[in-house]
Amino acid sequence: MKENLQFLHAFLKNPTKVGAIAPSSPELANTMISGLKPDKENIILELGVGTGAITKFIEPILPDGESYLGLELDEKLHATLRLTYPHLNIIQGNACEAYKIHKDSGLGKVKYLVCCLPFVSLPKVVTEEIYKQIDMFMEDGCTLRLFQYAHGYYLPPALKLRERMRNRYGKSKRSQLVLKNVPPAYTLTWSTI
Ligand SMILES: C[S@@+](CC[C@H](N)C(=O)[O-])C[C@H]1O[C@@H](n2cnc3c(N)ncnc32)[C@H](O)[C@@H]1O
Repeated sequence: MKENLQFLHAFLKNPTKVGAIAPSSPELANTMISGLKPDKENIILELGVGTGAITKFIEPILPDGESYLGLELDEKLHATLRLTYPHLNIIQGNACEAYKIHKDSGLGKVKYLVCCLPFVSLPKVVTEEIYKQIDMFMEDGCTLRLFQYAHGYYLPPALKLRERMRNRYGKSKRSQLVLKNVPPAYTLTWSTI
């Protein structure tokens, strides 16, 4: 409940950056982590940690804290995350610099890129920069998983994202529609491993 309020507050302060009115549901979180097997040499990088709605489900599949790196832009959300997950590497940072932040962290290779960023509402220039960062991880061999809300699925930014990824990484694997989420969403997966 507290998390929902904090999330809503962050949304009202900055709707385009947060991009959702509620954190992801347990059902969406479980779909986002389905099949991921991180370890120290093959870590999960989560972009846009928010209140940790997905992190909560990532945590139990981590063999140790070194198998995960999280990035969250919002200072207040990040401060709360540090208290909730003191044993996890969660950095207050911009996904536009994700590749360098990961390199500087000294952690293992990013095998799983769990991307929770609101591409539909982010400024185009920010989106383009984050795509470049994603490309660098994908060049190193990586699985990219993200979600798209059903109501925005056919909006130009969502279509463009899928077209861009398809042109580079082939057809995505799409999950069934996760109805128990506000709003309902699909997860999409591309892999270069
Ligand atoms: C849709 S919310 C998802 C939060 C959470 N992962 C979930 O699924 O409930 C998007 C999050 O991305 C963060 N964000 C937006 N732009 C970012 C950026 N450039 N770098 C890092 N985080 C960003 C927002 O502050 C917000 O917490």
